[in-house]
Amino acid sequence: MKTIWVLHGPNLNLLGSREPEIYGRSTLAEIDAQLIAHGRRHGVTVECFQSNREGALVDRVQAARGVVNGLVINAAAYSHTSIALRDALVFAEVPAIEVHLSNVARREDFRHRSLLADVCRGTITGLGPVGYQLALDALVSDGVHEVCS
Ligand code: DQA
Repeated sequence: MKTIWVLHGPNLNLLGSREPEIYGRSTLAEIDAQLIAHGRRHGVTVECFQSNREGALVDRVQAARGVVNGLVINAAAYSHTSIALRDALVFAEVPAIEVHLSNVARREDFRHRSLLADVCRGTITGLGPVGYQLALDALVSDGVHEVCS
């Protein structure tokens, strides 16, 4: 049985009430419940974790090494700032897919750069909660291969 961890970064605990015109009205609990159910349908254990603290997310990524089959990560604002999370992802050697609910390319310049993107297998941005499910599907299907180097 595959295990996939879904990691959510700062302020994503506020989904549902945080800038709903950007992030939608789904709560994090609803998104997580859908992902767990989606995983179950595909015979995959999905475990979700959210923290507002960079170090807690780093600890979690480090702990993934040798333990999980894939990571889905929306590091939120830390995507744009965290060398520590990037380094942890490199250490973990677990296929990871970066997800953003909003289309960061259409937003402020400081959101256009992700420090995680090139150490992840791919990025899904701007599709709302379905982006997490697509990331899960990609990891489950073993379709996550390096297509460039
Ligand atoms: C986000 C985009 C980030 O720029 C922002 O800081 C977030 C959420 C997204 O899911 O669209 O908190 O990662």
